[in-house]
Amino acid sequence: MVAQVRRKLIVVSNRGPVRVARDGSVHRSSGGLATALRSLLQHQDVTWIASATSDGERALAGDTLQQENYRLHLVAHDPQAYDWYYNVVANPMLWFVQHSLWELAYTPKVDAAFHRAWRDGYAAVNEAFARAVLAELEREPDAAVFFHDYHLYLAPKLVRNSRPDATLMHFVHVPWPQPDYWGVLPRAIRCAIHEGLIANDVIGFHTERWRRNFVYSARELLGDDVTRKTVTAPISVDPAEFDELGESEPVLAAEREIVAQRPEKLVVRVDRTDPSKNIVRGFGAFEIYLAAHPEMHRRVRMLALLDPSRQDVPEYAEYLGAIEREARRVNDRFQQQGWTPVELRIEDDFPRSVAAYKQFDVLLVNAIFDGMNLVAKEAPLINTRDGVVVLSENAGAHAELGDWALTVNPFDVAGQAEAIHEGLTLDQDERHRRLESIRAHVRAHDVNEWLDVQLAALDRVATTARR
Ligand code: G6P
Repeated sequence: MVAQVRRKLIVVSNRGPVRVARDGSVHRSSGGLATALRSLLQHQDVTWIASATSDGERALAGDTLQQENYRLHLVAHDPQAYDWYYNVVANPMLWFVQHSLWELAYTPKVDAAFHRAWRDGYAAVNEAFARAVLAELEREPDAAVFFHDYHLYLAPKLVRNSRPDATLMHFVHVPWPQPDYWGVLPRAIRCAIHEGLIANDVIGFHTERWRRNFVYSARELLGDDVTRKTVTAPISVDPAEFDELGESEPVLAAEREIVAQRPEKLVVRVDRTDPSKNIVRGFGAFEIYLAAHPEMHRRVRMLALLDPSRQDVPEYAEYLGAIEREARRVNDRFQQQGWTPVELRIEDDFPRSVAAYKQFDVLLVNAIFDGMNLVAKEAPLINTRDGVVVLSENAGAHAELGDWALTVNPFDVAGQAEAIHEGLTLDQDERHRRLESIRAHVRAHDVNEWLDVQLAALDRVATTARR
């Protein structure tokens, strides 16, 4: 019902829905945010503002480009400013704060270089985004603006200053930590982040846990009660897209390969190579499992399909090294002629990931913290083996799927090893019941519901007496 009204929306996110290669060819972007927002394009009148991140894209920046069912406005940034914004402030600093990843005895160091990156990088890029939004609002004065994620915390206030009556909404796709953890950042910076966000009319979070933390930290820092501006709306997927993908030729080809090589049992993980995903501990847990269950040697494999991510950020490059070392160590300890316990593939190969979704007996999602984790929703939809989901209690998805998954604490490798064992040995009726329950939940609460909740909140703003 809500989705039938066609609204004018200006979507603003760092990463756009498509990626333009050097040769000018256009490809779909990966990542949950871009995928989820794509279905918005079918039903709403959208102009999408995003960063130009390649030479091909920089050549197209500035103008509004008419795409098949939306308009694309790419913003080209000064390369130095973008480097500070993306590689110093957004990832790692804000990402590490929001996923509680800093080792506080040693990191982070908020030095003069960071302050400069904040001012001349993060703030400058946010100003460029705000200018692009204001230009689009000139063209479409009634359009509502829909900001996304931790890259853009300052832009809403800048837009609000020039356009006090604009309708602004922001969705935070990452966890919101408790107020004390924000103390990692100097007061002026953490206040600017909170002030920027509360300049929106509506601020969305995936779970009640992250929303509540935001309300606490805004109250502590600014003394404001922002409860009525916040909504909880768990992001989801388009089940029909996965039904179709699962039967597509590239996925069937990848699946044939996996089936030809797989042992009796397969433990699968699909992630970006991000420290928040807890990949290194996952291998450690598998090692403990193998040590405890020699009867499973040669009969089980962990298949880790990892998309290399943010490799210009040293913390991420180091983490990728740690992943490779740990997989190697576990393999060196257990491997035998004709059996490699851990198969590690570091590549962006979406068809192979979807094929692995169909083939897992256990899906390991042991994130340290995760805003949602869409793999936990996508993979069960098309799994063919009554596979079991082992799920971190700190993934947003746990709030919805926890009853049907095997819950693990992300730091408890012994517990994760036990959960792998339990997942591989549960009787089939029980596995079937759990998998069907997850599927039914995801089908009933799909990505359109996520969008509808926010559009309904937007409509409430438009009809209340704020102006
Ligand atoms: C997460 C973030 C998104 C981001 C995606 C991929 O899902 O919430 O904002 O786009 O990761 O990361 P990248 O840095 O490649 O855009």
